[in-house]
Amino acid sequence: MPDGQVAQRKPDASAFVIFGVTGDLAHRLVIPSLYNLAAADLLPGKFCVVGVARNGMSNDELRDSLMKGLRQFATRPVDDTVAKRLLDCVSCVEADPKDPASFDAMRAQLDELECAQDTGGNRLFYLATPPGAFAPIARELGRTGLLKEKNGAWRRLVVEKPFGTDLASARALNGELLNILDEHQIYRIDHYLGKETVQNILVLRFANGMFEPIWNRNHIDHVQITVDEKLGVGHRGSFYDSTGALRDMVPNHLFQLLSLVAMEPPARFDAHTVRSEKAEVLAAIQTQSEADALMNSVRSQYQGGIIDGVEMPDYHKTADVKPDSTTETFVALKLAIDNWRWAGVPFYLRTGKALGLKRTEVAIKFKEVPFKMFACTPVDRLSQNYLVISIEPTEGITLQFNTKVPGPAITIDGVEMKFRYKDYFKVEPATGYETLIYDCMIGDNILFQRADSVEAGWQAVQPFLDAWNKAGANGLEYYKAGSEGPACADELLKRDGRSWRKL
Ligand code: BG6
Repeated sequence: MPDGQVAQRKPDASAFVIFGVTGDLAHRLVIPSLYNLAAADLLPGKFCVVGVARNGMSNDELRDSLMKGLRQFATRPVDDTVAKRLLDCVSCVEADPKDPASFDAMRAQLDELECAQDTGGNRLFYLATPPGAFAPIARELGRTGLLKEKNGAWRRLVVEKPFGTDLASARALNGELLNILDEHQIYRIDHYLGKETVQNILVLRFANGMFEPIWNRNHIDHVQITVDEKLGVGHRGSFYDSTGALRDMVPNHLFQLLSLVAMEPPARFDAHTVRSEKAEVLAAIQTQSEADALMNSVRSQYQGGIIDGVEMPDYHKTADVKPDSTTETFVALKLAIDNWRWAGVPFYLRTGKALGLKRTEVAIKFKEVPFKMFACTPVDRLSQNYLVISIEPTEGITLQFNTKVPGPAITIDGVEMKFRYKDYFKVEPATGYETLIYDCMIGDNILFQRADSVEAGWQAVQPFLDAWNKAGANGLEYYKAGSEGPACADELLKRDGRSWRKL
């Protein structure tokens, strides 16, 4: 075990039931993550994987298909012995929520498999399906009693993103699930919380004495959260065109970053306390009027351009995208958090597809010093003080500050102190889902979204959705694929006398 790592306990014996096992998510992420956990000896000693397909498949057919996926998507060379041990645990059952009898039959099959593997009745149902199937599957699992915790056995439901498409639908889905399960049984995934650097925000803030005293409106001028992607929409045209950049990224991924950066210190490092503080800060995001929402947002769509030498067509020429689509592929927002720590500190968020760079970062900009002291020196400007938490492309933390340039005259220049994860820790390449899946199996929901924070997230973005819906094409701007994004995003900060951090 590498230095500094703590031995992790093996999860309880259990059955891992995957709905949507024939799909992309199961092949690309779930099975490769289970493989990595198997390689690290972190799967339960008594374990079975049950793949649920709508059209029957034999166990061998399913195992072959998952093995192909594993070979394609594994993050490290596949050890055939480990892969075989994992795939030997896989069985296929057939069930479709449109056919309730199939769930009764599945229940009997599951009982048999669990008995054979001696898994003690602990079950984790992983919904790797399109979102429209979440509630129908949960209803059938509820009706057949498969989610009922009894005789000390646990039952858990893992729900993938997107959780709702607006505030009303997220509330409705929470309502449906909470009719069937208790909150502690529900694991709403946001894969950003599987990223080490994202988890590290908590440690950076609360395990170091020097940040917390200055982490407030007295010292911080504003916060920038950037998630820029080079990828276009590719083959996801139909999903993306009805979703857009705001829904796809902001209430989930960008708000995870925002809540970790802006939350109050939790009294304890446990799921209830940490998730309560995160929900509190999301609920404190000012709900804007539709007029303010229009003023404090920009939305934009990409037009053809070149990315890494490859031509990217106009967004609206992508397969399954409406030719007159007004869906945004880039969004920038200015948000305010109405509490004592953050009053008056703007949070600027931006995210977009088909940009020239892949970059995910949170940049905390500290207030400027009074310049008068340097008025009688040759110094004509000072560099900005940023603390940058980088998630992509390099995982690490950078502090930018001013320093004297060596020489007789007083000249000042901006320099950087950099910490890069890879310089200190050797980490095996991973999918980013391993910790999340392991945590579901050990029953730790600290890295999962609770109903209240999901709803608080949608509440904060709803005015933007409503205002844009009414505005239609008015206000939609365009940017060139491969560029840094639209000029209107720069204007959003410029009018406050600020600018986005340049690389
Ligand atoms: C997904 C979005 O949730 O996150 C995608 O649906 C997006 O559109 C992806 O590309 C970004 O994830 P990451 O980890 O590459 O930043």
